[in-house]
Amino acid sequence: MTALAPTHPIAVIGAGTMGAGIVQVAAAAGHTVYIFDTSEDAIDKGIAQIEKFLARSVEKGRMVEGERSAILNRIMRCNKLEDLAPAKLVIEAIVENIDIKRALFGQLEDILSEDAILASNTSSISITQIATNLKRPERMVGMHFFNPAPLMKLVEIIHGLVTDKQVADILFDTAAAWGKKAVHAKSTPGFIVNRVARPFYSEALRILQEGGADIPTIDSCIKECGGFRMGPFELMDLIGNDINFSVTKSVYEAFYQEPRYRPNLIQQEQVAAGRYGRKSGQGYYDYREGAVNPAAHTAEPETAPTEITLIGNNPLLAPLADLAEKAGIKVTMGDREELAGFMIEDILVILSDGTPASELTTVLGKAAIVFDLALDYKAASRIAIAKGDQVADADLAKAVGFFQALGKKVSVIDDCPGLIVMRIISMLANEGSDAVYQGVASPDGVDIAMMNGVNYPCGPLKWAEDIGLDHVFAVLDALSAFYGEDRYRTSPLIRRAVIAGKSLL
Ligand code: NAI
Repeated sequence: MTALAPTHPIAVIGAGTMGAGIVQVAAAAGHTVYIFDTSEDAIDKGIAQIEKFLARSVEKGRMVEGERSAILNRIMRCNKLEDLAPAKLVIEAIVENIDIKRALFGQLEDILSEDAILASNTSSISITQIATNLKRPERMVGMHFFNPAPLMKLVEIIHGLVTDKQVADILFDTAAAWGKKAVHAKSTPGFIVNRVARPFYSEALRILQEGGADIPTIDSCIKECGGFRMGPFELMDLIGNDINFSVTKSVYEAFYQEPRYRPNLIQQEQVAAGRYGRKSGQGYYDYREGAVNPAAHTAEPETAPTEITLIGNNPLLAPLADLAEKAGIKVTMGDREELAGFMIEDILVILSDGTPASELTTVLGKAAIVFDLALDYKAASRIAIAKGDQVADADLAKAVGFFQALGKKVSVIDDCPGLIVMRIISMLANEGSDAVYQGVASPDGVDIAMMNGVNYPCGPLKWAEDIGLDHVFAVLDALSAFYGEDRYRTSPLIRRAVIAGKSLL
């Protein structure tokens, strides 16, 4: 263990949203924390933010009064940079501007001892670039907290090209000693979370743009079937559409216009209209008083089948077969091993492998309906399904009745490849795999980051393994064939793992 002991003083520069949160975390871990900001007013506000948080913790019984006052007593206001001289670690959380950050670290090198660690909380600037021209660039590391810092568990430890590994390890252990989940990441645009999360938004936007499903239906399926706490549109409205759009643009430009990260015109229009989300009263949803937002598409009740045939032996579907039996539906075993799903009379009801139902109907010569992935088919309260364009409504009604008999609300959506959850999870796993393949993070690092930085219910790589990596591979291949776009190319890591029969983890 190489964590900085609490006897070492820490300094935080910038007392805004992030700086104040980081001060609180370090002071709660027992360090004396110096706080500096060019604005006295910002320090007042930052300390007030900490006081409010701690007072609420005492009120709610999460902290005793003695702890509250001890934390506050460890926070030292500073009027000039020279006051930070005793600090062994300085965490910078000032304005996101490379020239201002560089100038600040240059000044700090002359004030601090030679063994001090210089850390930046930047979300989007290269650590290597901030460290250029420093006398000791190897002591510069990224320490990327998530908002609100006292509550969000994740800290990404960002290695610049010349960062000393031992220095990064000290920060990793220090973050862990502060009760955080630390992950190592190479300094690349978006680091882990802001890169791997892109498809959560961009695929949802793409489905919306193509008329695959509407906003409340996409959000409801992601929550009620995918097990996420928030849908992509709700989350974009919470983050702020202006901020989300600017992060998307910054990652896209920083990767030299990599098509995978291309922003969507829908985002641009939202921002142009001032629909920033919750903070402006309107975004993808209307938050103004008295506003009524549309509900997710939910099919009307249909008749349940009396018997079905289970096809394939995909273990993912066992809970659905179980639920069917409990609902009094006779389940028999079929023989079409190449598919995963059910037959209701002569209708194929298939777990989406990315192939549109229209194509399956033509290729298999039977009416095909596809259904979406669930995090947990027992717990899911909703499921999205789509029929082939040439399939009759009466056949669709039979599949609707089947899922309703299993206790699910059914959202009928358009025949878009991969539906909603399967498509978004496959693309998240693809992005996470590429980050691993390019040495940005370990597979574990990606999963830990997504579960603790954005509260995903499961790490995308572990999830892909649970679905079956070959199935995810098929979904990505189908998306690529359908669109013919570079955006949907499969990560070489997935391709290699499937061919070699190896796990991503
Ligand atoms: P903020 O605007 O709330 O606070 C920035 C503070 O820095 C202000 O109080 C300002 O007076 C002060 N400041 C500006 N220039 C300064 C200088 N030269 N010396 C000392 N203080 C100076 O900004 P926020 O949101 O806290 O962001 C700070 C940093 O953290 C940025 O690099 C940002 O990319 C990063 N970040 C932000 C997250 C967020 O959700 N807001 C999440 C993770 C990282």
